[in-house]
Amino acid sequence: MADGLTNICTWWQESQCKVRILRFLYVSVCECWPLPDSEPVMYGEVQSPQYPHPYPSNLLKQWDLSVPEGYQIRLTFTHLDIEASAGCYYDALTVLYDEKVLGKFCGQENSADGRHPGNQPIFSLSNRLTLILQTDDNNPERHQNVGFSAHYQAKDIDECSRPEPGDGPLCSQICLNTLGSYLCSCHHGYELRSDQRTCVLSCHGGIFDEPEGHLSSPGYPHAPPHAVSCQYIISVEPGFTVSLNFSDKFQIESVDTHQGQTCLHHWLEVTIPENEPVKLCGGQSPGLITTNSNTVRLEYHTDDDGQSNGWSLDYSTHRVKCPFPGNLPKGRVTPVLTEYFYRDYIYVRCDQGYKLMMDDQEIDSFSAMCQNNGQWHLPLPECRIIDCGEPEALLNGGLTFLSGFQNQYRSVVQYHCNEPFYSLLGDVNVSFTCEADRRWRSNHDVIVTPTCIPVCGKPTTLISAYQRIIGGKEAPDNTIPWQVLLNIDGGRGGGMIIADRWVMTAAHNLIHNGQKVPIQTVRIFMGSTDVKYIMNSPVNADSIHVHPGYNNPNDLDFNNDVALIKMEQQITFNSSVMPVCLPAEGATYVTGLMGLVSGFGVTDRNGTRILTNKLKYVQIPVVSQETCRDSINLLKRTKKTPLPTLSDNMFCAGVPEGGKDSCQGDSGGPYALDENGRFWAAGIVSWGVDCGKPGKYGVYTRVMNYVDWIKKTMEEN
Ligand code: ARG
Repeated sequence: MADGLTNICTWWQESQCKVRILRFLYVSVCECWPLPDSEPVMYGEVQSPQYPHPYPSNLLKQWDLSVPEGYQIRLTFTHLDIEASAGCYYDALTVLYDEKVLGKFCGQENSADGRHPGNQPIFSLSNRLTLILQTDDNNPERHQNVGFSAHYQAKDIDECSRPEPGDGPLCSQICLNTLGSYLCSCHHGYELRSDQRTCVLSCHGGIFDEPEGHLSSPGYPHAPPHAVSCQYIISVEPGFTVSLNFSDKFQIESVDTHQGQTCLHHWLEVTIPENEPVKLCGGQSPGLITTNSNTVRLEYHTDDDGQSNGWSLDYSTHRVKCPFPGNLPKGRVTPVLTEYFYRDYIYVRCDQGYKLMMDDQEIDSFSAMCQNNGQWHLPLPECRIIDCGEPEALLNGGLTFLSGFQNQYRSVVQYHCNEPFYSLLGDVNVSFTCEADRRWRSNHDVIVTPTCIPVCGKPTTLISAYQRIIGGKEAPDNTIPWQVLLNIDGGRGGGMIIADRWVMTAAHNLIHNGQKVPIQTVRIFMGSTDVKYIMNSPVNADSIHVHPGYNNPNDLDFNNDVALIKMEQQITFNSSVMPVCLPAEGATYVTGLMGLVSGFGVTDRNGTRILTNKLKYVQIPVVSQETCRDSINLLKRTKKTPLPTLSDNMFCAGVPEGGKDSCQGDSGGPYALDENGRFWAAGIVSWGVDCGKPGKYGVYTRVMNYVDWIKKTMEEN
C-alpha cells in the first residue's frame, strides 16, 4: 500500500497528496483501487460516479482500462463537466499511461477555465490506460458538475510505423502490420533469421531427395553481399548414385600460395561418405563429379572479405551398377545386357544335359537381383553335367563305355555277357545312352533289357581221344563241365546240368521203394573231375521233380526214367561248370552216331569193379532200336529171368563186342551227342544188363521225348 501511495504521489503534488489520500482512505475505504479487469475487452465505457448526477466530493477514484496486447486504447469523451480551476487544482480527471500524464482535465466545453479534452481522442501508447478522478470538499455552493462520460476502444498499433527501437529497425527488410501485432519479412533471395527480425541472403539449402535437381550459391551468378555459410545435402534412395554437374560459370575466391591455389577463405566443400572432404575454389568449373554415393554434402563458405560469384550445378542420379555376372560354362545368363543396374534381374539356364548346382545342391531355377549396394544378391550357380547313375547291372555280364565316363550325360555303354559261358539273348549289341532326362536310353527302338543266357554244350577243353567208363578213361578237366555227381541217400548217381538252377537225372535215382527220397538226402556236386575235390562244394536240392509217368515198383519198368532237381542256388558257369544243351527241335538219334557218356560210377580195374574217384568217360555209338530190342529179347529167352522192356522212350548205346559201357553209379548221367561242336543231352544213363558185356547195350532215357515236360517243369518251378 505504501508503494502504491508513493507511485500516485509522484505525479501529484507531494504534500497535498498524502494528506488527501489519507483522508480519502478514511472516508471511503471500500471504493478504492479497483483491480484491472482480468479479461481484456475491445471496447467499453467509463463514467464518473453517479453520472449524470453531480459527482461526490472528497473522491479519489481510479480506472485501469485495458485492451488486448498489441492494441492501444483510444479514449473519447462524450461529456466532461468537472469543477473548473486553474491547473485543475481542485477537481480533476487525470489520464495516465504508465506514469506519464497524457492529460489532466476539468471545466466544461468552451469554458474559459480549466482544460477540456473536447472531442479529440486520447491514445495510449499501449493496451493500458489509467484514469483517476479526484475531487475535494471545497464546494461551498453545492456544485452541479456531473463529472464525465467516455468510451474507449482497442485500436491496432501499427508497430511498423513506430520509431525504431534502440537496436536497429524492428524488421531489417519488410515490416507487416497485423491486427494486434506485426511480422517481419524478407526480400526475394533472403530469408528471415531465427530472431524473426533480420534477413540473411537465402542459401536455399537443406536436403534434396529428388532424383534430380538444381543447386546454386546465394545470389548466383552474382556475389552475395557478405559472409555466407550454406549447407546442401543431396540424399537419394540407396541404390542410386549422385552426379554433380557444375556449370561453367564457377568462381570461388582462392588464394595463391607457394603450394598452389588454396581454398583459404572461400570454398565449396564436397563431402562424399567414406571419402576425404574436398574443398573447391578457383575460377575453373569442376565440371562433372561422379560421387558413387547416394548422399553428398555441400558446404559453401565465404567470409566478409573477398569476392566469390559462386557456383551452380545440376545433379542427377543413376542406378548403382552391378558387376558383369560373367560367363557360365555350359549355361546361359539372361538377359544379356552391356551393363546391369540396381533392380535388374538375371536368370540362369543350363545347357541340355547340365543341371544347376548351388553350394553342392541341385536347384530348379536361379535368379539374382542387382542390389542397392551394387552386388548381386546371389553368386552365380554352376552348371554341372548330369549323370544317369549306374546302369542296371547285367547278371553274368558287364558293360563297357563306348564313349563318355562316370555315367555322365551322353555316355554310351554297351552290355556284354561273360563269354564264353554266357551270350546275349537275341545276340544283339545293346548299348544305352545317358539322356538329358537322366535315363539310360536303348539304341534299339524297342526297349530291350539285356539278358545273358548260358552257353550250353561247349566245353572249353575238348576230349581229343575217346575212351571208356567201362573201358573208358579219366576225363580231363573242363571237358564234360555239365557232369554232376549226386549223392542220394548215401548212394552215388550221375546227373547233368541243363540250366543254372537245374540238374537232370534218372527218375530211379530219386525213387527208392516207390518213394521219393527225402530232399535233404540229395547232394549235388559239380566243377571237378575228382571226387575228392568235387565234394568240397555241395549244392542242396530245392525241389525234386520226377516224371509223373515213372512207375517202377519191381525194377522192371524204366519207362520215363527222367527227373529234374532244382538247386537251391543259381550256378554261375565257368570252364568247369556248364550246362549241356537240351535236344533241339527235330533232333535225331542216328544209329552209329558217337555219343559221350560219363560218370563217377563203377569202373573196371584189373578185372575188379570199383567205384571211380575220377570222372570217367567213354564214347559209344547210338544203337538201333531193333538191334537193342533183339539183344534184350535174346537175353530174356536165355536168362529166363525177368528183364525190363525197351520202350520208345529209351534208346541203346554201346558196341556189340562190349567193353565200353556205363555202369552202376553212372545212372542219371549224360549221354551227349555232338552237333556241330555243341553237345546236347541225348540220353540219361538208365539201365542195362551187366556192364560192358558183348551183345549187351546200355539203355538210356530218350531225352528228346521229354523236352516239353522238361521245359514246362523248369518254367513252372
Ligand atoms: N542202373 C544203373 C545205375 O543205377 C545203371 C546201369 C547202367 N548199365 C549199363 N550197363 N549201362 O547206376
